Amino acid sequence: MTDVVSMDKIVALCKRRGLIFPASEIYGGIANTYDYGHYGVLLKNNVVNAWWKAMIQERDDIVALDSAIIQHPRTWEASGHLAGFSDPLVQCLGKCKRRFREDHLREEAEARGEDPEKLVCPVCGGELTEPRPFNLMFETTIGPVREEGSTVYLRPETAQGIFLDFKTTLGFARKKPPFGIAQIGKSFRNEITPGNFIFRTLEFEQMEMEFFVAPDEADKWHRHWMEQRMEWYVTLGVDRDKLRLRPHGADELSHYSSATSDIEYLFPIGWSELEGIANRGDFDLRQHAEYSGQKLEYVDTATGDRYVPHVIEPAAGLGRTVLTLLCDAYDEDEIGGERRTVLRLLPRMAPVKAAVLPLVNKDGQPEKARAIYEELRSRMTAEYDAGGSIGKRYRRQDEIGTPWGITVDHQTMEDDTVTLRDRDTLEQVRVPVSELADELASRLG
Ligand code: GAP
Repeated sequence: MTDVVSMDKIVALCKRRGLIFPASEIYGGIANTYDYGHYGVLLKNNVVNAWWKAMIQERDDIVALDSAIIQHPRTWEASGHLAGFSDPLVQCLGKCKRRFREDHLREEAEARGEDPEKLVCPVCGGELTEPRPFNLMFETTIGPVREEGSTVYLRPETAQGIFLDFKTTLGFARKKPPFGIAQIGKSFRNEITPGNFIFRTLEFEQMEMEFFVAPDEADKWHRHWMEQRMEWYVTLGVDRDKLRLRPHGADELSHYSSATSDIEYLFPIGWSELEGIANRGDFDLRQHAEYSGQKLEYVDTATGDRYVPHVIEPAAGLGRTVLTLLCDAYDEDEIGGERRTVLRLLPRMAPVKAAVLPLVNKDGQPEKARAIYEELRSRMTAEYDAGGSIGKRYRRQDEIGTPWGITVDHQTMEDDTVTLRDRDTLEQVRVPVSELADELASRLG
């Protein structure tokens, strides 16, 4: 069903309906940076809420955190990001002078069956420089002048804020391992290769949870989180057959990880990472203990046992989850000989749940429709739309995935019923206005 989808169509739909579009467009845009418009924000918020629900509301072993984006610069020395968070960069010495990730060029050459030792510029065929490491962290300064000690970094992952607050959180949360700390927030990486729409951007939101466990339980909890996280995407409506778990090879592992598996989705660009689930061992807590001089361990007051917990980390990208939902839900069909684009999102993920449409702009229908809309919107996101033909209005709602269209017509004015149209089955049933909100709420689940 989703064979019709391509990245170009997703980009076009997002722009056309104002979900997501290039940032700074009036200045010609800025590389790998996008803004979310009204429907994009609503969709993103639904993902955020679903993540918090799974992490906090439906469990009692995880607490929430919102740590600062700019942390003490020693953080990144301890975490290894200052020394090791880099990509191999090559630059074209020919005409175009563009820069590329050498590892990406190698992968592409191998996929084409070419010798990865004989790389040339993929744009102009020019000679390439030797690779040199390029740190992905954005640097800035605190205070008006750049001087020693004033350099700070925009966090490249939200995880480190959680490790810095491990001791504080342990103190007030009244938890003991196994327990987790979860947060959602912006991270920043100076990515040099053009991404595929919002797949790879300079700033992006991560949904990360660090789960602290006794060392001998790490493998068990790693398996637990791999299963949980795969299932979570299915509960968002994502096609199970387009999700897979791929363990990292030894050469791919991050400096902190002893085992990582990626949840991958079959995007139109091929299987690509959606979330990483890593066993970070005790690397981070030990590093921060050493660099800060603080004891970062768990002491069992009953037994006197003390240990540095190991960490299992499900780290998801919010933008990538939004992109997954869009790609997975995108469909095209034909109604009455007319081509239609429709997002078959689960109702609970749809930006707008119900659109209330007066059939004609007279005979009291607009006022009646507006009153129904005003009642509905206290229960769910709803829209009132009186502009254009009814067909056009349905098409507009289909494109943003609105599951239910409610039409007010001449019969409504006589018997106080409306037509309730289903986005996917196109079935239309008459429902009394007095029962409408409950009917939709029960369909919403
Ligand atoms: N704390 C572990 C960590 O940051 P990661 O695999 O580098 O691991 C986790 O990032 C997730 O964040 C990725 O699976 C992806 O969904 C998202 N992500 C990473 N870099 C991104 C980028 N430049 N643009 C959009 N999302 C990104």
